[in-house]
Amino acid sequence: MNFKQAAGIQAAEAVASGMKVGLGTGSTVYYTILELGRRMKEEGLRFTGVPTSEATEKLALELGIPLAELSELEPLDVTIDGADEVTQGLDLIKGGGAAHFREKMVAAVSKRLVIVADESKAVGKLGAFTVPVEIAAYGWRSTAKRVEAAGCRAVRREREGQPIVTDNGNYVLDCDFGLIDDPGALDRQLKGLLGVLETGLFVGMADAAYVAGPEGVRVMR
Ligand code: 5RP
Repeated sequence: MNFKQAAGIQAAEAVASGMKVGLGTGSTVYYTILELGRRMKEEGLRFTGVPTSEATEKLALELGIPLAELSELEPLDVTIDGADEVTQGLDLIKGGGAAHFREKMVAAVSKRLVIVADESKAVGKLGAFTVPVEIAAYGWRSTAKRVEAAGCRAVRREREGQPIVTDNGNYVLDCDFGLIDDPGALDRQLKGLLGVLETGLFVGMADAAYVAGPEGVRVMR
């Protein structure tokens, strides 16, 4: 079993029958969702999920997990999601999969946010991983200039020369601010810029993180 699998499977213990559950996006929470599907079939677990991306929606539907719209179900009991960086204080950078807009919306209406990660994601300070910032496609170069003026180098995320378009029809800037002293202040600053829709800085939102390494899975709270 690899580390992502170990963390993902163990964190599924946060879900009990009858719960309303936010389902995150990425290769670690993938294992959580598989485990929830297994428990549904083999142990009679019953819950309703809210997916944070089209990819997660597809996976959940394949597993037969009942889904609902966010607004139909909020508040949610728990959301389980991955992260690109997690600090000891449980601040996060997310958005490596370009799903951070929906992930933050779902996390914001969840009573608990549980993170799953391998230990390469545990950091002392956020910022070695560039901060994903979702921006409107319209006028994106102007927005990128405003974001760079906040103190970073911003690169539009692309694949094979084509922009990555999020599930919401927007672009993502990957922003290198270096190590970040005050992620909450940076998040507020970026959110105040015209054209910026959401950042991958999740500050004060997570309640626990299941982090897996060679010694097993440790739960940070
Ligand atoms: C997607 C995310 C992911 O949760 C994050 O990128 C971690 O992904 P993985 O578990 O595949 O490393 O924020 O937007």
